[in-house]
Amino acid sequence: MYLGVNVDHVATLRQARGTVYPDPVEAARLAAEAGAAGITVHLREDRRHIQDRDVRAMRREQPLPLNLEMGNTLEMVEIALQVMPDEVCLVPEKREELTTEGGLDVVGHYAALEASCARFRDAGIAVSLFVDPDPEQIEASIRLGVPMVELHTGAFCECGGAARQACMEQLRSAALQAHSAGIQVNAGHGLTVGNLPDLFPVPHLHTLNIGHSLVSRAVLIGMKAAVSEMLAVMRGYTGGLTR
Ligand code: PXP
Repeated sequence: MYLGVNVDHVATLRQARGTVYPDPVEAARLAAEAGAAGITVHLREDRRHIQDRDVRAMRREQPLPLNLEMGNTLEMVEIALQVMPDEVCLVPEKREELTTEGGLDVVGHYAALEASCARFRDAGIAVSLFVDPDPEQIEASIRLGVPMVELHTGAFCECGGAARQACMEQLRSAALQAHSAGIQVNAGHGLTVGNLPDLFPVPHLHTLNIGHSLVSRAVLIGMKAAVSEMLAVMRGYTGGLTR
């Protein structure tokens, strides 16, 4: 299992004061030194945290594979094709939301996604779709021919007890469905060192993309220590993949 570190909220802190620090690229380098496998940034339409220049700098100035999270808009597709990240993760995006709410409606936006996926495939950029663990959405993702999906763990993280168990079962079945079609299974949203062990019964998890809790912890103990702490928890995973 691999850790992808989302450094958006390093930029949130910078944008809060309009300063040049803290630098998300520096955070990415520290995450790399601590054993992260990839870096994610989400260039939002409203540019509330990551800026266009951050995406370009991230491509040039840190050593890890770059995953660009983005809405499926013409503007973002053009930017991605210029920057050439290793991967793009297509997410739904609403201006008013605090963070990405819910997965992509692959069924409802099939034609638009098909067009963008074809452009990315031609450019050699791997596409991931951020989806709820819903069999219809996974089925549509399989039909689109994407190499990866990222399962939305938000609902799983927000509830506890029996409800969390039910969410975990949905994630488990979605992971099996995607994996049996040959699709790489990633997961993310809301994951912390506290809730991560409850995710471990989900098989075939390849990469976990984690941001807010890691950056929050990094404010207190430093980025390298926060990444090491998360990796130590991830080592308890026995779901079929090892680093
Ligand atoms: N994966 C996706 C697709 C996301 O939109 C986000 C949030 O930007 C994350 C992972 C990371 O979520 P969090 O910041 O809650 O760890």
